[in-house]
Amino acid sequence: MLSYERIFENNKKWVADKRSTDHLFFEKLANEQYPEYLYIGCSDSRVTAEEMMGAAPGEVFVHRNIGNLVVSIDLNVMSVINYAVKLLYVKHIIVCGHYNCGGVRAALTQEDMGILNPWLRNIRDVYRLHKDELDDIKDSRLRFDRLVELNVKEQCINVIKTAAVQQQFGRTGYPIVHGWVMDIRNGKLIDLEIDFEKELKGIQEIYKII
Ligand code: CO
Repeated sequence: MLSYERIFENNKKWVADKRSTDHLFFEKLANEQYPEYLYIGCSDSRVTAEEMMGAAPGEVFVHRNIGNLVVSIDLNVMSVINYAVKLLYVKHIIVCGHYNCGGVRAALTQEDMGILNPWLRNIRDVYRLHKDELDDIKDSRLRFDRLVELNVKEQCINVIKTAAVQQQFGRTGYPIVHGWVMDIRNGKLIDLEIDFEKELKGIQEIYKII
């Protein structure tokens, strides 16, 4: 296991390694950030944003929470989206879920989870929206997997509902919103191939803010 002391040892090695390939690495990094991607993922320790994408420091703006949720009254995620879109001009926003997500699993159980109840309620709402499809899946693992995918799709729609995304896309053609699932059983990223412009058109019948 990773001990507390070991973290600082690892950090020293990482600094030395970065400097050995580019002696001005940190000087350049300190100047500015121009990430093209905003990644919204789960806090799960097994789903590392940059590592699984092979992304370097400066390339991805990251927000993580339990269940990769985009809740309209969560000041945290809404600030992140606003900042990423309006000041960093990210070109792509990715919502990334993962199979075997503990948050999604908890939402599928009938237990009282205390402070997590209102948070997980958002995932239960996804279940309710897609109840017919989910109830038709008899295999519980496949149903769990499908809820993970549908949760990603609904959170993408929540990103698209924001004024920042609608306005910026109308002006510049960016950002594009994508939904991914990381298959924790083999490490592979799956693109759910959400049709951003179709979803945008669909939600704007009700949620248009431009
Ligand atoms: Co998770």
